[in-house]
Parts: sequence; C-alpha cells; structure tokens
Amino acid sequence: MDAYPIKKCLFPAAGYGTRFLPATKAMPKEMLPLVTKPLIQYGVEEAMSAGITGMAIVTGRGKRAIEDHFDISYELEHQIAGSDTESLLESTREIIERCSFSYTRQNEMLGLGHAILVGESLIGDEPFAVVLADDFCLAEQDSVLSQMVALYEKHRCCIIAIEEVPMEQVSRYGVIAGCEESPGLYRVDSLVEKPEQDVAPSNLAIIGRYILTPDIFDAIRATPPGRNGEIQLTDALQTLASQGKVLGYCFEGRRFDCGSVDGYIEATNELYQRSLA
Ligand code: UTP
Repeated sequence: MDAYPIKKCLFPAAGYGTRFLPATKAMPKEMLPLVTKPLIQYGVEEAMSAGITGMAIVTGRGKRAIEDHFDISYELEHQIAGSDTESLLESTREIIERCSFSYTRQNEMLGLGHAILVGESLIGDEPFAVVLADDFCLAEQDSVLSQMVALYEKHRCCIIAIEEVPMEQVSRYGVIAGCEESPGLYRVDSLVEKPEQDVAPSNLAIIGRYILTPDIFDAIRATPPGRNGEIQLTDALQTLASQGKVLGYCFEGRRFDCGSVDGYIEATNELYQRSLA
C-alpha cells in the first residue's frame, strides 16, 4: 500500500467572494488573512499534514496574488534578511520547498462542479483531495484532511466531510441522506443542494473537505446545470452515491465558515486568542 494514497489536493478558488466586497474587488477571498496567514495557506498546510505535496489551484480573474504568495519573493527576502521579521516568512518558505504548485483558470464561474472539472488536467486519473479554503477547520489532533485520508485508505471511495447544522440553516448547504454504518460514518444514498428546511432529508451538511475518486470527472461531465444554473458537485456526487460509492464523515474538529463575515470574525478571534495563550 502507498505510504500516502492521496498525492494531490485541488483548491477551487475561482469564486467572486461577493460577500466580502469591497475587500474582494481586486483581491481573492482566499488571500484574506486569519490574523497574519491567508486562508489558502491554512488549507495548504492542512493538505501537507495529510501527506499531500501536490497543490492544484483553480483560479480566475484577479487571483494572481495566490500564485505570488506561493513563490519566492527575492526582493522581499533580501530586504528582511537578518531582521526580526525574517522568521515570519518561515512557514511559506517551507511550503515552497516541500510542495509543487500547479494552476489553471476557470474562465466562467459555472459552479463548484465545473471548477473541479476544470481541475481535471491538473489531477489526472487518481484519487485526490479537495479543500474549499473558505471553510477553515481546526482540529486538536489529526487535521480533518488527515482523518479523511485515513478513512480513504480503508474504504477506497469518495469521502465527504459533513457536520450537523441547525435545521433552520440547511438551506445554505448541500445536505446528505444515508445510513450510519459506524459512529459518525454514513453510507450516502442521496444529496440535495441547498434544500428548503421542510424538504431537507437531514441536517447533515456537506462542508468544504472531500476525497474524490477520478470517476467524479465523468459524473460531472454527465451532470446538467442545477440550482442557480450552476454545475453542482452535489449533483455529480449523486451519481456515485447511487452506486454506493460515497461516505459522509462527521469529522473531529471545528469548522468556521470564513466565506461569511460572521464565521471569518469568529475564526480570527479564536486564532488570535490562541496566539496569546
Ligand atoms: P461560494 O459559494 O462560497 O462562492 O463558493 P464565492 O463566489 O466564493 O463567494 P460568494 O458567495 O460570492 O461570497 C464555494 C467555493 O467554490 C469555489 C469558490 O472559490 C469557493 O472556494 N467556486 C465556486 C469556484 O471555484 N468556481 C465557481 O464557479 C463557483
């Protein structure tokens, strides 16, 4: 068995981030910092903690800052060499040394499913992780993606991270229905994107961490536009769920919805308090 069965992580990062306007007018949402580190760097570090070193990023217009962030800035390095602030760049240096980065562009925002299909050329024919960097996850021990990679080693099928949300919030999420095979692990039968509360099959919401098998690409190709006219990953996953190939996993840890202002502020406060401890 491979030491690390998942080698690449895809970061769909082409969205407009309209909830953070005007901050995201010329700057990608993924570069918003939690204290001093951008959201996408937390995502990359989480992927590294799961043994992944191939980072594949789907970007769009106005996202060049992401590429610059994961590159050496000789001028800056020269400027701060030997100063007190030099150590602040250590974490990015380590990432640049250990990981490889590849990029492609989603020219039209046709939905998360479409963004993942655009990433196919970077992933190829192998299982891969997906991180939506605006869902920031904190775990006390193994990172959420490490927990999911361990599950993938055992089950060899798609694993999607889920969490229980209050019923009145289900219409913000993709929601699953399934049978609990072991504590916190569900064999998914069906998935619905942003259902109304009265028709939601459960309050188990899908969050932004996935392990996907490469047959997802054909499933996305066969998926017509769904809610909002977008190609929804949730709809494509339904094809694989109907074949019993999707597990929903209630991860250990805490998720902050940093795509919303409230969640972003909450995560900032949490990390700031931790930095003082
Ligand atoms: P969101 O639904 O949060 O959309 O996308 P958004 O555009 O980023 O933010 P708002 O709602 O306008 O504030 C979830 C994830 O899917 C990616 C986004 O970058 C984000 O990581 N995404 C979404 C794409 O890459 N392409 C798309 O066409 C849609």
